[in-house]
Formats: sequence, structure tokens, C-alpha cells
Amino acid sequence: MAVGMVHLHNVMRWLILILLLWSILKAYSGWKNKKIFTRSDKRIWLFTLISAHINFLIGLYLLLAGRYGVLTSTRPEGSPLMKDKFYRFFWIEHPTGMILAIILITIGNRMGKSNSSDTTKFRKAFWYFLIALIVILITIPWPWREIVGRPWFPGMQ
Ligand code: HEM
Repeated sequence: MAVGMVHLHNVMRWLILILLLWSILKAYSGWKNKKIFTRSDKRIWLFTLISAHINFLIGLYLLLAGRYGVLTSTRPEGSPLMKDKFYRFFWIEHPTGMILAIILITIGNRMGKSNSSDTTKFRKAFWYFLIALIVILITIPWPWREIVGRPWFPGMQ
């Protein structure tokens, strides 16, 4: 079960990145071209929000009960958590960065419901989504990262 969840968590990353990039482009184009905020904008922002929240729930499961879960794994004795690069990343840095990004996506999505003008909606959402994207890109365990690096896709090495 834990391995299946890691695979799902891995693939969801691509869905989130595509949807978030799409949301950013739509917000930017809406802002700069003074477009009207439509249902299609609302829908893509909502899909981005839902996919990020789903990965949050899977991540929470992995953090508690996954292969390296807080409740299911034992860290090497004697090394403080903050000195253990691997566990510090998966127990603290990765969850904190991703939760921050998900909060930013949630606030960005809320802009669609605010009473401000459509241009303001697009502008504010653009910045929230862009910062969320940067935080996600920094916090993903990319394959080239030392110690914490993970595959591009499930099953790859
Ligand atoms: C936008 C949200 C997130 C993205 C894009 C993301 C991305 C990833 C990726 C690509 C991996 C490597 C998967 C693999 O080994 O194949 C991973 C692992 C992991 N993530 Fe996330 N993550 C997100 C949110 C979270 C959150 C919110 C938490 C915790 C609350 C979390 C906890 C973990 C844990 C514990 C692992 C290691 C799992 C294991 O190897 O057993 N993730 N994440």
C-alpha cells in the first residue's frame, strides 16, 4: 500500500505542475490583456487546487505511515533529526515547503471569488500561483538531488 501511494504521489506531481503552469499562464494573460474572468479560468484554478489537496492527503499518509513514516520507521539512533539530511528533508523540509505552496494555491484560487475587478483577480492569483510553483520546484526531491533524490516517474531508478 505504501509503495502504491508513493507512486501515486510521484505521478500527481506532474499533474500539479501542468495544472499550476496552466493556471499561471491563464492568470498572466487575463491580467495583461484585461480579460473577463470566466468559468474556464475558475475551473482550471479549481482543478489545480483539488490536485494539490489530494497530494497533500497522500503526503500526510506517507509522512505518518509510509516507508519512512514517523510512525512506521526508526531513525538511526544517536543522530539528531536536524543533522540527518534524509529524514530532515522528508519529515520537515518537504512537508513544510509543500504545505506552504498548497496554502498559496488555496489563496490564489480564492481570488476568483473576491469582489475585486477581474484584472485584480488575475494579477493577485498570478503572484500566488507563481510563488507556489517556485516553492514546489525547490521542494521536490528531484533525481539529481543528493541523498533525497527520487525518480522522475514511478518505478524508474
Ligand atoms: C504539491 C504537493 C507535493 C508534491 C508535488 C510532492 C512531491 C513528492 C515527490 C515527487 C516525492 C518522491 C516520490 C517517489 O519517491 O517516487 C515525494 C515524496 C514524499 N512526500 Fe511529497 N509532495 C507533495 C506534498 C507532500 C506533503 C504535503 C507531504 C507531507 C505532509 C509529503 C510527504 C512526502 C513523503 C513523506 C515522501 C517520501 C515517501 C516515501 O518515500 O516513502 N509530500 N513527494
